[in-house]
Amino acid sequence: MLSWEDPIAAVTKKQPEPQVRPGMGLQDNEALMNTAGAAPSVNPDPMAALADVEAEGTGNTGLEDIEMGAERIRVDDKKIINCRADLNQLVPFKYQWAWQKYLDGCANHWMPQEINMNADIALWKDPNGLTEDERTIVKRNLGFFSTADSLVANNLVLAVYRHITNPECRQYLLRQAFEEALHTHAYQYCVESLGLDEGEIFNMYREVPAVARKAEWALPFTRYLADPEFHTGTPENDQKLLRELIAFYVIFEGIFFYVGFVQILSMGRRNKMTGVAEQFQYILRDESMHMNFGIDVINQIKVENPHLWTAAFKEEMRTMIRDAVELEAQYARDTMPRGVLGMNAAMFEEYLHFIANRRCAQIGLTEIYPGAENPFPWMSEVLDLKKEKNFFETRVTEYQTGGALSWD
Ligand SMILES: [Fe+2]
Ligand SMILES: [Fe+2]
Repeated sequence: MLSWEDPIAAVTKKQPEPQVRPGMGLQDNEALMNTAGAAPSVNPDPMAALADVEAEGTGNTGLEDIEMGAERIRVDDKKIINCRADLNQLVPFKYQWAWQKYLDGCANHWMPQEINMNADIALWKDPNGLTEDERTIVKRNLGFFSTADSLVANNLVLAVYRHITNPECRQYLLRQAFEEALHTHAYQYCVESLGLDEGEIFNMYREVPAVARKAEWALPFTRYLADPEFHTGTPENDQKLLRELIAFYVIFEGIFFYVGFVQILSMGRRNKMTGVAEQFQYILRDESMHMNFGIDVINQIKVENPHLWTAAFKEEMRTMIRDAVELEAQYARDTMPRGVLGMNAAMFEEYLHFIANRRCAQIGLTEIYPGAENPFPWMSEVLDLKKEKNFFETRVTEYQTGGALSWD
């Protein structure tokens, strides 16, 4: 049950009705959705489950029978969605950008425990180290992100992966899924290092309305795509997939993360909570690549299926982005009611308008907020980590030598 007076009903009433089949690993969030749980209906027998898959006749999961002597895969056989070519063969590549992002993601490998948290621990324990507003920002953002990355990971593994019928894109999705696990690990590591109440932090997404609204907004998208009865292949369902990809890659990872990123990185720029800020900086770099991958996938689906990108659908997507900006602006107001670190909620609203315009342009939509400017120009420099002197200079190099391998 919700622990406050249902402030999210207004948000969810615009959502598509979740056609969830229970048993998809999302029941833990049933309380959040205020819907009744039910017994799992997924077939527990793997062979019978495979037969179910074959009976579906989709032919695009990678679990179909192996056809001996079938014709070899040609690049032209490959498609992002609704592909009938064998999905168990990575090559020949069709989408070099997807493979390149997989390589880039691996080259950026990092681990949360490599970051020194000593200064943060001392500052957090010092009663005069931070103001109450600054402590709120740290806790709220750990609260939001600690479960948000699990929502993204579940969405990838349980919903998106099955419907993306291209091996090089799936290769990147597997890398992304691991990075989402690292991000959740990073937040857990911050919580543990600072000695925070883990129950308080990890339950914020169902106890603090500003955090809950964003999770609540995203969850129905995962639910209907994770439904085993859902298949792409009709214009209506292909649009549902496209809508879900925009919801997660463009809005959830591309808008909902950004107030938190700016707030925490601002603290780091002022030499406060530098370890937490460094964790967020690595995460921001990963997230920026996730979003760019998602945008490439969305645009490729549009190229291959131009009938999906109708005027009505485009307008619906602009409305969805506008609503999401409102939600994130509310998060900014809730997390910094008085203004802190030289920033205030109005600046965040302007920033959100600025990035929403960019996201629209990236997927071919008309801008929503003409003339919006970036009040935090330093954020674009943070994104380009090569400009950050000494950042990662030693650690990543050491990591990439494979020095951690041991055959003992
Ligand atoms: Fe993440
Ligand atoms: Fe991500």
